[in-house]
Amino acid sequence: MRKLYIAGFSTVKGMFNLFSQTVIKCCVLVALFTVIISFLVKQRQHRPTDQNPHPIEQAYYKIISPSTYSYVLNQPGKCKGKRPFLVLMVPVAPGDRSSRDAVRSTWGQENLIPEVVITRIFFTGLATGEQGPRIQADLERESQEHEDIVQMDFQDSYRNLTIKTMMMMNWLASSCQGAMYAMKIDADIFLNVHYLVNHFLGSPSSVPARHGYITGSVISDGHPRRDKKSKWYVSEEVYPETSYPPYVSGAGYVFSIDLAGRISWASRFVRPFPMEDVYIGLCLRVLGVRPTYSYSLTSMRNMFEIRRLEYDKCVFSRVIIVNGFKPHELRRIWHDFQKSSFTC
Ligand SMILES: *[C@@H]1O[C@H](CO)[C@@H](O)[C@H](O)[C@H]1NC(C)=O
Repeated sequence: MRKLYIAGFSTVKGMFNLFSQTVIKCCVLVALFTVIISFLVKQRQHRPTDQNPHPIEQAYYKIISPSTYSYVLNQPGKCKGKRPFLVLMVPVAPGDRSSRDAVRSTWGQENLIPEVVITRIFFTGLATGEQGPRIQADLERESQEHEDIVQMDFQDSYRNLTIKTMMMMNWLASSCQGAMYAMKIDADIFLNVHYLVNHFLGSPSSVPARHGYITGSVISDGHPRRDKKSKWYVSEEVYPETSYPPYVSGAGYVFSIDLAGRISWASRFVRPFPMEDVYIGLCLRVLGVRPTYSYSLTSMRNMFEIRRLEYDKCVFSRVIIVNGFKPHELRRIWHDFQKSSFTC
């Protein structure tokens, strides 16, 4: 009798267990379903809205059009006779020689990976002020020595970075079309070239050319700051919408070479805008191109790290960029990073 009772009890308990497990499974399924649906809805909301974009007024286009400016220094033969796998385009102030030298001796070395053609170019505008002529003379000497500087005659300033970025796109489209990928990367960034080339993009011989591809640190919830004191202030007149389309942070992003010409074309439809990365995002929207996320599921990290991280060889070996290093810090980190003994 007692046995029967226990048996009955355990059956009830078993049924209860089964019931609760089913409930949990249902909950998980419903949750998963909700996540997927909300993701899809979000995707739809971010569809390009400019199906029939209107060209901007000529006066606006003139500000960013590369035809407005002339080359002071150029390297038109930089890609002649070779098909770079990767072109590193580094915007830099004309007087910032120490950053350029740090890049040249660290991740910007063109022969870093045997058999992979990497090309490095610095892009700059004109120095103004009293020191202008001296900076220009030094820059011209440096350019003869290294043959890696392209300069146009617009005033080099933070608010003119969009002009510089459009100059890079135009230069790529006209002088380096045979390349496979390009990367826009700031000089104060740590770049793990080996990881980018060998693991992320795939070795040049094994991957077919990609089209309409751009990746980096994707910002999908950006919006204009209306506070006039903000560094990122944008007036409603310049940008009436309340949010930005998804864009990649300007610290460092990688794209297939076809986008250089297409972004240059799209700029005829997008009013000049001081934040160059948002500007590129607006051009991508015109093209109907969505930036690709680069999140590593194994390390649970964004591979394009736009924050500054303390140097840790193991962490740095599994990301593509880390933000915010002074030239001497970059050299120090690079020196340690290159040492072969490696245990994580
Ligand atoms: C941007 O460059 C143009 C052309 O040199 C110049 O007229 C303008 O003042 C610059 N704007 C800023 C904010 O530096």
